Amino acid sequence: MTPQQIAAFFTVHRDLPREGPGEAADVHWALSQLDLSGAVDVLDAACGPGADLVTLAEALPEARITGIEKVPQFAKSARTALARFGPRVTVKEADMTRLDHSYDLIWCAGALYFLGVTEGLQGWRSALNPGGAVAFSEPVLPDTAPGSAVMAFWQEYPQITDLNGICDRVAAAGYAVRAHRMIIGAPWEAYYTPMQARVDMLRRQNPDAALRAALDENQQEIDRWRAAPDQIAYALVIATPV
Ligand SMILES: C[S@@+](CC[C@H](N)C(=O)[O-])C[C@H]1O[C@@H](n2cnc3c(N)ncnc32)[C@H](O)[C@@H]1O
Repeated sequence: MTPQQIAAFFTVHRDLPREGPGEAADVHWALSQLDLSGAVDVLDAACGPGADLVTLAEALPEARITGIEKVPQFAKSARTALARFGPRVTVKEADMTRLDHSYDLIWCAGALYFLGVTEGLQGWRSALNPGGAVAFSEPVLPDTAPGSAVMAFWQEYPQITDLNGICDRVAAAGYAVRAHRMIIGAPWEAYYTPMQARVDMLRRQNPDAALRAALDENQQEIDRWRAAPDQIAYALVIATPV
């Protein structure tokens, strides 16, 4: 990407509450599946602007919670969102492949695919406390044959599989799937509604060519999601080492 394209990307993505589909109910579901409470250590790997960190901090008032995010703009937004929680909740601008602490839960919404499910889980094994778990969301194909709208949406992620394929990649890392649920519909609306509002607002401000191209790209993504919102999904998976 050219510097202008990078700047345009971050202009579109500034001030969005989250950088991928998800909602507080997903975090609450994972915590209840794991029965996690008290003075536990939790990592949000690739926390983006910090929406899930806020939910984790509210749900686990005694926990030490860390966010790791490699993009300075997102890490700064997360710190702003978390300021009210004080020093027990911190955000590091760092690479999630290099963890120097261990955790009871590694939460990773919409970002494990950057590492690969198998490779990422393998790499995090030594960063889990005994009994610890990884909860991650990952693109997933529907059980029934996906239509052309679904494949168009995922065209830049050819590694996508159905749920069985995700379970295979988890098993290849030496983990077992303890629970899963689908992220579909409302959590995607929670991502795309603010993005659509930002795209519309920036279009009214006489954007330059680079920004117009970024706006077009984001609009295309939103439109592709709107073509098959009942079939475009992430699986939220809780995995533990075996
Ligand atoms: C789709 S966004 C999801 C962000 C956030 N979890 C959420 O749901 O809003 C993916 C995030 O992963 C971050 N990321 C990608 N690779 C990373 C790495 N190696 N270390 C830390 N962050 C990374 C990106 O900067 C981006 O913020």
